[in-house]
Amino acid sequence: MASYLEIADDEKGYDLDLFCVPRHYERDLDKVIIPHGLIMDRTERLARDIVRDMGGHHIVALCVLKGGYTFFADLLDYIKALNQNSDKSVPLTVDFIRVKSYCNDKSSNSVKVIGGEELSNLSGKHVLIVEDIVETGRTMQTLLSLLSESTPKMVKVVSLLVKRTPRSSGYRPDYVGFEVPDAFLVGYALDYNEYFRDLSHICVLNDDAKEKYRV
Ligand code: IMP
Ligand code: MG
Repeated sequence: MASYLEIADDEKGYDLDLFCVPRHYERDLDKVIIPHGLIMDRTERLARDIVRDMGGHHIVALCVLKGGYTFFADLLDYIKALNQNSDKSVPLTVDFIRVKSYCNDKSSNSVKVIGGEELSNLSGKHVLIVEDIVETGRTMQTLLSLLSESTPKMVKVVSLLVKRTPRSSGYRPDYVGFEVPDAFLVGYALDYNEYFRDLSHICVLNDDAKEKYRV
């Protein structure tokens, strides 16, 4: 199984006052659980592992919007840096797909894929799917089965986070940044009803905020 950085269930995290958090969110968060710098350091290593394994081929990096966009941009920057600074380099192109499965803090049973009609371009390609978080695994399994209809040559999945939860289907991505406790996390493009994408650190949402931003 892919190696990952484990954030324990009893992880105390960091007091919000120790870091810079937007004023408009100060009262909505319990704690910082993964500071932005640590996300970046782990992402740099994921980039190296991916280039080591997929580096012989042209890679199509497929960003799962919206939650994956920050991780996608940072991961690709690190892959670009590797390309610029070594004798071996790999052409990289990008594609985007939008998936929606969440309402409030619950994963719904229906996974909506928007923009999937363009997946046919991926036939014969080496595809790297870039996702923010895997919880039940349903979103990724839906996407993978849709993608297989386009007959790509190879598909690998990198997810910044995997949640330890009894709701998991058992699906595991090929590359994992962090394994996290079963809590609702926001920041670094992870949202609660579209809020908190504009927060750099990954934080635990408090219960008052779940009410305040509920739809
Ligand atoms: P799954 O289909 O249950 O694996 O859920 C995956 C999707 O749900 C992810 O792509 C996220 O968009 C969303 N999600 C799951 N857990 C969280 C969370 O803790 N915070 C924000 N979004 C989440
Ligand atoms: Mg997502």
